[in-house]
Amino acid sequence: MKRYPLVLAPLAGWSDAPFRRLCREYGADMVYTEMVSADGAIREQKKTLALAEFDASERPIVIQVFGAEPETIAGAVEIIARKRPDAIDINFGCPSRKITKRGGGSALLRDINLLQKIALAAVRATDIPISAKLRSGWDTDSINLVETSMRLQDAGVQMLAVHPRTQTQQFKGLSDWSLIKRVKATVNIPVIGNGDVRTAHDARRMFLETGCDAVMIGRSACGNPWIFRHVSTFLATGEEPSPPSFAERVEVCLRHLALNVAAYGDRRGVQMMKKQIALYLRGFPCAGAIRQKIFAMDRHADVADVLSEYLHARQ
Ligand SMILES: Cc1cc2nc3c(=O)[nH]c(=O)nc-3n(C[C@H](O)[C@H](O)[C@H](O)COP(=O)(O)O)c2cc1C
Repeated sequence: MKRYPLVLAPLAGWSDAPFRRLCREYGADMVYTEMVSADGAIREQKKTLALAEFDASERPIVIQVFGAEPETIAGAVEIIARKRPDAIDINFGCPSRKITKRGGGSALLRDINLLQKIALAAVRATDIPISAKLRSGWDTDSINLVETSMRLQDAGVQMLAVHPRTQTQQFKGLSDWSLIKRVKATVNIPVIGNGDVRTAHDARRMFLETGCDAVMIGRSACGNPWIFRHVSTFLATGEEPSPPSFAERVEVCLRHLALNVAAYGDRRGVQMMKKQIALYLRGFPCAGAIRQKIFAMDRHADVADVLSEYLHARQ
């Protein structure tokens, strides 16, 4: 696969089409969709397949799928492949109980043979490159990232994204970047490093310490799509650009809101945008009061008015 240095992570509930588009505009070289259920996809459930819709402006795009059986994954991959994404990713990392109790996500790290069969079934189901996203293992006593990476490469997977925390760690502690380095030293396919990159300096350190081909950013991109441009400028010039001004933040927030309303309609678009707005406004004076006002609203025009007033009052 071609290499793309800065990647937006799959983030259920966050990395939807409007947000992916903004991240691409602000310098992400590649984006992942939220995880899509293979069970839902093979039943062609509308809600599930909606998560896999994308606009051409988001390319290169990876659609991520999760599931627990080779046949289901193969069927889902065939259906998703009709959308012609740049790659289809299999989720071997989700730690959530809702997913693992049905054998999906990071539960598969406990059964490497099944994990490999799933990857093989996906590879055989399509001509589109298959990638995989992994955690380091189930718990600290069963870290098997290097072995799973090799098994996936053997199955024909063409790219790996590695988040070196265990399932039991969830999001606690820090990810162990030395494991990314070990994977990179073991496989020949591109390795995307992931975990705890919050600043341009973190991104540079991850490239230097691990030798990874790309850096994936998740939580720190939320309410902050500028992070990608910031990192790429820093990597290219060694200079850190100044953070976005208050006006820029609010203007991009307004644009994100408009993209959301165009994608989901007025009410739902506003509803889904509220948590994003809270992050765009984080740290600004009176942000709490503005947030409260907006949280009680359900029309695009009203929210846009409040944000615009806030913007002009502070200029
Ligand atoms: C709210 C949220 C949703 C996530 N959804 C997914 C997902 O759908 N698929 C996946 O592989 N990882 C998912 N992750 C994990 C992230 O992709 C990423 O691996 C993790 O957040 C570590 O990267 P970060 O430190 O840059 O956030 C999610 C994480 C969060 C916080």
